[in-house]
Amino acid sequence: MMPRNPHRQPQQASSTRALDVLDLMQDPQLRLADRPWMLRTASHLLLNPGDPYLQESFRNGVEERLYSAASSSDAFYANYPPLGAHLSGDLVVVKLPSHVLPMRIDALGRNLAVVGPTGSGKTSLVILLLAQLAPRARVIVIDRKRELRKLAGVPQLGAFWTVLHWLQLSLALLQPPPGIAVDVWVSEVVSLVARSYSLYASQRLLLETLLRVYRKHGGNATLKHWLAEVNAFEAGRGFREQGYKEAARAVLVDLLHSVPGLKFAQTNLLEILFSQPNGGVVIECDSLPVQHYSFMVSYFLRWLYTWRLHSRSYEPQIVLVLDDATIALEEARDREAPGGVSPLAESMFMGRGLGLGVLCATHSWSTTSTRIRHNTETMIICGAQGDDLRSLSTAMGLTPEQANSLRVLQRGEAVVYAPSTWPAAVKGSYPLVASQIDDVELQARARAFMSKVVIIEETDKSSDPKPQDNLTPQMLRFLHAAAFHALLSLTSLYRESSLDRTQGKSVLSALHALGLVVPHRVSSGKRGGHMYFIEVTEQGWLELEQRGFSRSPKPTKGGFLHNLAALALEHDGKKQNCKVHFEAQVNAVFVDVLWQFPDGRLEAYQIGLSNPRYEAEKLHELVQAGGVASVVLITKDKVFLKKVNALLKGGLSDEQEQKLTLRCLGDLLNCDRE
Ligand SMILES: Nc1ncnc2c1ncn2[C@@H]1O[C@H](COP(=O)(O)OP(=O)(O)OP(=O)(O)O)[C@@H](O)[C@H]1O
Ligand SMILES: [Mg+2]
Repeated sequence: MMPRNPHRQPQQASSTRALDVLDLMQDPQLRLADRPWMLRTASHLLLNPGDPYLQESFRNGVEERLYSAASSSDAFYANYPPLGAHLSGDLVVVKLPSHVLPMRIDALGRNLAVVGPTGSGKTSLVILLLAQLAPRARVIVIDRKRELRKLAGVPQLGAFWTVLHWLQLSLALLQPPPGIAVDVWVSEVVSLVARSYSLYASQRLLLETLLRVYRKHGGNATLKHWLAEVNAFEAGRGFREQGYKEAARAVLVDLLHSVPGLKFAQTNLLEILFSQPNGGVVIECDSLPVQHYSFMVSYFLRWLYTWRLHSRSYEPQIVLVLDDATIALEEARDREAPGGVSPLAESMFMGRGLGLGVLCATHSWSTTSTRIRHNTETMIICGAQGDDLRSLSTAMGLTPEQANSLRVLQRGEAVVYAPSTWPAAVKGSYPLVASQIDDVELQARARAFMSKVVIIEETDKSSDPKPQDNLTPQMLRFLHAAAFHALLSLTSLYRESSLDRTQGKSVLSALHALGLVVPHRVSSGKRGGHMYFIEVTEQGWLELEQRGFSRSPKPTKGGFLHNLAALALEHDGKKQNCKVHFEAQVNAVFVDVLWQFPDGRLEAYQIGLSNPRYEAEKLHELVQAGGVASVVLITKDKVFLKKVNALLKGGLSDEQEQKLTLRCLGDLLNCDRE
């Protein structure tokens, strides 16, 4: 692609008279002022115009920029908002009488961030926002925790929500969006891969090989063809070109194996989404390695962005949602990207005029990239502390007292700063969204959706075996052990699958790379000590099912560690001849696990892994409701335990306190039960 105005050539840096220096510094295509060292050089040069070193340094800087502006494939190179653009406003926090957070996402301006610590209600709020938004927009949700599948069961949303696991996807990476010329898309794909994986130096090689792929295979081009072209690329003798080739090869091989859905599709799932009257897709990305997660997010954004830009139709509004997006938003992602702008940050400021917005939920605001922060109009705070409290209250212009109210938000309360709607931050509360959908219905919708995707038939399957053909007997033994002996910690799992430590480690990392297992670290209670437990992912279970093993049901609706604790408690309860109930009710209060002793006595177990405040409230409720002889809370770790203890202090009578025991998850799991 050409720079936006191809007729306008930036001035040559032939002389360094004061006027030229000023002029060059303001040239929008060069964006010299974005670089602090250029600013410094320019100001020194204005003071010492005759200094030959400064002159040369300045000229070099300009030439480098001229070169990158000319070779940039980004049509908007010149239009990035300046560094240092920031949010402002006169703010007062007011308590609104309404019980419902008074907002509609389309009235909120585009990019939106939901910020708050673990368990503060971000996901619940995102679900509420999307339930309001969905009838008017298309939504793509990237979900790392499998919590937003709930959206598919919200009655008002109708049936147009599909939940897909990333392993089910068929992403047509090499197919341009409808109506977009192949050569436009080629440069998009090359810059996407180059920037997501820091392959800047291999960019030319990637471009050359990809053009050859299109010449040979046209609309049937696949990632595998691309890899074959890179393999066949004759690197010069020089050490460098060889290096570029190796780097490109390594990334493509890894992509092929770790993101199997990228390989063979011909129709893009986004096209299918846009052929529906409304709705959204939730893409569950649990266990997708981080660098590929960023790549996938960028891919969606770039696809949408390119499509919008060239089709000149900006309706309906599109929202890309990243729940638990902290890793994708970090400043480091921008720093690593060549040019200092990650595709996500770029889309957040380029997409706004195109009806394309990004909604991120994140734990941490202060570590978020500056560019992303400056391009987030609306902020919803579910709670903030420490550095976050400081940077958020600066961004929202809060007084210290107002800032304090961010610290003490209850669950279901949030402070909203939406300068496009209100000049001030407001505080309000929001309800939980009701939802009901079962796995069968979810699967049926996913199948119906994916059946519209045309898959490219691979002619040569032998050259590159699919990951599952790569499972060695050792890997299978380990996968089986992890699936059916979930309570064994990693070291015992090695033993169970007859692997020594070295073999075990390489088997584990191979399975992890294929997305079949995810290790979870649990602090063992001893200072600094920890153990690992291994979760078998959805795809891992599919592999086992294909080999004739049937899946063991999950005791509770919680995540992996939650279920692990429940299993351990079931085991221990049965040993004491108790009847064990999961997710049971005692005097109208729910508990995770309930032991019923032969004499009828009840012992309640609560598994608290995400939020000390919530657990403390829950314990209060349980002890006060009565009906149980004792209550045990299993906490994530010692720190968590101490927090709960501090929150409970003084709130209970001696008798109630005696009923109560707090234990760490590590202590519970720290004994082999088999
Ligand atoms: N409005 C509300 N009313 C009552 N309970 C709520 C409300 N919002 C959230 N909760 C409860 O708070 C808990 C945590 O909520 P949620 O999972 O949304 O938090 P989160 O910030 O996304 O956490 P994480 O950082 O772990 O993803 C859930 O059990 C949820 O039911
Ligand atoms: Mg969440």
